[in-house]
Amino acid sequence: MPLSKRSTLTQFLIEERRRFPGASGDFNALILDVALACKAIARSVAYGELAGVLGNHPAEGGTSVNVQGETQKKLDVISNDMFISANNWGGHLAGMASEEMDDPYQIPGQYPRGKYLLVFDPLDGSSNIDVNVSVGSIFSVLRAPQDVIDSGRDIVASDFLQPGTRQLAAGYALYGPTTMLVLTVGTGVNGFTLDPGLGEFKLTHPNIQVPPDTQEFAINASNSRFWEAPVKRYVDECLAGKTGPRGKDFNMRWIASMVAEAHRILMRGGVFMYPRDTKDASKPGRLRLLYEANPIGMVMEQAGGRASTGSVPMLGVQPNALHQRIGLVFGSKHEVERIERYHAEPQPYKDEASPLFNERSLFRD
Ligand code: F6P
Repeated sequence: MPLSKRSTLTQFLIEERRRFPGASGDFNALILDVALACKAIARSVAYGELAGVLGNHPAEGGTSVNVQGETQKKLDVISNDMFISANNWGGHLAGMASEEMDDPYQIPGQYPRGKYLLVFDPLDGSSNIDVNVSVGSIFSVLRAPQDVIDSGRDIVASDFLQPGTRQLAAGYALYGPTTMLVLTVGTGVNGFTLDPGLGEFKLTHPNIQVPPDTQEFAINASNSRFWEAPVKRYVDECLAGKTGPRGKDFNMRWIASMVAEAHRILMRGGVFMYPRDTKDASKPGRLRLLYEANPIGMVMEQAGGRASTGSVPMLGVQPNALHQRIGLVFGSKHEVERIERYHAEPQPYKDEASPLFNERSLFRD
C-alpha cells in the first residue's frame, strides 16, 4: 500500500507546535508516548485470548479489586502498566494518576521529572473485554502546580484536583473494528486511525463536529427507578416519540463502553447520560470526574457539543478527590441544554404520569 497523503499524528503535532514557537517539544513527546501506550494496548486487545489476556486479574484469595471496588480484568492491569512504562521515563511528567491505582504514581528517582500531569483510565468499558465488544483508553493532560515544577517534589492527590477547564489536552483511544485516537489539544478535535501495518496513527477525521441536534440517546435504563425527576422526564419524552411533546421518534443505544458511546456521538450526534441517581447514597454518579468525565467533556466541548453534570457545566466543577464520581451528561448541545433546563426548572413532573412507569410501561411486568 503506498504511503497516503494523510498526516501522521507526529506530523500533525509538529504542525500544531509551529504555531507556538516557544514550545519545547515536551508536550508533543508526551502525546506521542500516550499514543504508543494506546498502540501497545490495541495490540494486546487484538490478540485477546491468543495472548491469554482475557478474564479477571488473579489476586491472593481470588480476583483483584481496584480502588473503585470493581473487579480488575487482566487487561485493566496490563493496560495500566503499558501507560506507565510508556510515560514514566521521558522527563515530561511530574506524575500520573489512574483509575487502577489508589494513589498518584511518582516518577521513579532515576528519571527526570517534567511539568505535566497525566491522568488516565487505561481500559474503559473493561467489562466488555471478555465478550469482544469495543473498549478504550481515556487520558487527560494537566499542568503540574508551579511549586511541583520548581521543586521537583513528589506529587500528591491534591495536585490533580484541577477543574476540567485547566486540561491542556484530552482524548481517547477506541479499540474497535479499527483502532482510533481522538485528540484535542484545545484547538478542535481530530481523529486518527491506526494503520496497523505501519504502526502509525493517520489523520482520518479532521475537525470533528458534534451535530447540535439528535434523535438518539444512551442511558442504562435498568437504573430508571433510581433516576431523578428531570432525567425521568427527559427519557419519557424521548420514549413518547412522535406523539409526545418532542414530536419526533428517538432511537436508544447502550454499549456500556463510554468511549464507544462518546465516539458514536462525535460521529453522528446523540446524548449520553449516566446521571446522578439514588442507587447508592455513597456514590453521586457512576463515572469518574478526573479521568472519564473531564477528558470526554473537553473533547465534546471542543467538537461543539456539551458536557454537564446535568445541572452545571462539567468542566467548571472543582474536584474534591482523585477518584471522585459524578453524574455525567454529554453530547449534542441542544439536548444537553434541554436536560440542564429540566434540572433548573421547578419540578411539576410526576412519576405516575410517566410512560416509563404507567400501566403499559416498558419497565413493568
Ligand atoms: O467504568 C465505566 C463504564 O464501563 C463505562 O464505560 C460505561 O459507560 C459504564 O461503566 C457502564 O456501566 P453499567 O454497567 O452500569 O451500564
